[in-house]
Amino acid sequence: MLQDGKLYIGTSRKPDDTNNKPEYLELKFGNRHGLVTGATGTGKTVTLQILAEGFSNAGVPVFCADVKGDLSGIGAMGEPKDFLQKRADQIGLTPYDFQEFPVIFWDLYGEKGHRVRTTMSEMGPLLLSRLMNATDAQEGVINIAFKIADQGGLPLLDLKDFQALLNYMGENATALSNQFGFISKASVGSIQRELLILEQQGAEQFFGEPALKISDIMRTTNDGRGAISVLAADKLMMNPRLYGTFLLWMLSELFEVLPEVGDPEKPKLVFFFDEAHLLFNDAPKVLLERIEQVVRLIRSKGVGVYFVTQNPLDVPETVLAQLGNRVQHALRAYTPREQKAVKTAADTFRPNPDFDCATVITNLGTGEALVSTLEGKGAPSMVERTLIRPPASRLGPITEAERKQIMGVSPVAGLYDEDFDRESAYEILMARAKKAADAAAAQEQAEQPAEQPSGGSRWTLPGFGDDEQAAPSAPKQAKPRAGYQRETVAEAAMKSVARTVASSLGRALVRGILGSLRR
Ligand SMILES: Nc1ncnc2c1ncn2[C@@H]1O[C@H](COP(=O)(O)OP(=O)(O)O)[C@@H](O)[C@H]1O
Ligand SMILES: [Mg+2]
Repeated sequence: MLQDGKLYIGTSRKPDDTNNKPEYLELKFGNRHGLVTGATGTGKTVTLQILAEGFSNAGVPVFCADVKGDLSGIGAMGEPKDFLQKRADQIGLTPYDFQEFPVIFWDLYGEKGHRVRTTMSEMGPLLLSRLMNATDAQEGVINIAFKIADQGGLPLLDLKDFQALLNYMGENATALSNQFGFISKASVGSIQRELLILEQQGAEQFFGEPALKISDIMRTTNDGRGAISVLAADKLMMNPRLYGTFLLWMLSELFEVLPEVGDPEKPKLVFFFDEAHLLFNDAPKVLLERIEQVVRLIRSKGVGVYFVTQNPLDVPETVLAQLGNRVQHALRAYTPREQKAVKTAADTFRPNPDFDCATVITNLGTGEALVSTLEGKGAPSMVERTLIRPPASRLGPITEAERKQIMGVSPVAGLYDEDFDRESAYEILMARAKKAADAAAAQEQAEQPAEQPSGGSRWTLPGFGDDEQAAPSAPKQAKPRAGYQRETVAEAAMKSVARTVASSLGRALVRGILGSLRR
């Protein structure tokens, strides 16, 4: 059933309900993105699970968010269950083997996975404005703040640094306005209050060092399987804007860090965006355009982006048009909006003369879907009514004990779990920002893969860009010498801003499409 270069999704049905043929996703089109849609309980998460399994077995690392906690079972061996065996028999999946997958758990809050952090500098003005749901006036001030910091080569570590910078801007609004454009004191004040709210919501845990290295989500095991990074998102979902912004930041980082590879024989990474409507919901037009642009361009970096959402109307048309591989589970069609969704979903498929898409979409069973993938020279295959295969890993959550065990042997165990103290974190960020500025200035990307130490004997680690920071020994080297009292980051920030404004010295940082630092 498994074939080279292809990932088995399930088996399609003939009109008389007998098996038609196996349906595959071709790995060489894995970077041409995808869409999994359907109402609640129709099988989206299981489809995500079997796709992630297939990519992992093909050696492709996967990143996905676990919105309800029920995807974590992918790290555990599947268990024989009657209904799963029945599905396997029905579609001719023999033998139906169980497997556990190499999983790395991540969590912004550090509870159900290794910590994920970034710095203010690396997030950039566009995503920060989105995170704060900033008004136009606030966004203007945020842009100026980053302009001041970037021109001075002044990295911003966390919310406190940003507060310090805003204080400085408020106090020197008139002088700075002459140089950078109008700074409204009222807007500065309102941003500062918003930052406090963000802090209370737990966002400050997300800003700091050690920042996530993209290479850590691109690991493979020594037996050639791709790591599946699972982001615990149940708590995160309570702050939907942080969830959406975080995933956009990841996408942005991938885009800025990864080298161009054209169309590889299989993706370098596959990125699943569950609850994708949270990305697009009332996002400003500029952001939507940038997302559309990044989705289009990231393909040539070998990254496949798969959106998972209830309703195809959740995804803007310009993005929808780029999603080549499609799994459409059942939709309801009671309300006019639902009927429109069914029609949209049906119209995007290459029709099959055997059935009417719109009718079938409302009649699909659980774990059944309309499937169309790219084939041949990259054209969509004729849509087929398909029974999705059962997962090889466990259906449902793993236990907390199992999670602890997996985290304990993870290749990143110990690398992200502790915060760096502020001074050393600041130095590390300074060094990285300088490197980014140098690289941007040189206008070329270092593409030679450096030899990287792997975290455990079971794992390998890709080497590219921006990896000089070899946590966790780094903060030790950066410890201040005895007797030498270092100025606080905020003090340093203020002085540096003052210097910048006074003399325009320093190295400018350059930002990419979604506002991350260019590397
Ligand atoms: N491919 C499948 N094979 C067997 N059972 C499935 C399959 N897909 C879904 N199911 C069953 O349906 C349930 C709900 O699926 P799920 O993927 O959680 O739905 P959704 O994410 O769309 O809400 C699963 O717990 C499982 O029992
Ligand atoms: Mg689900």
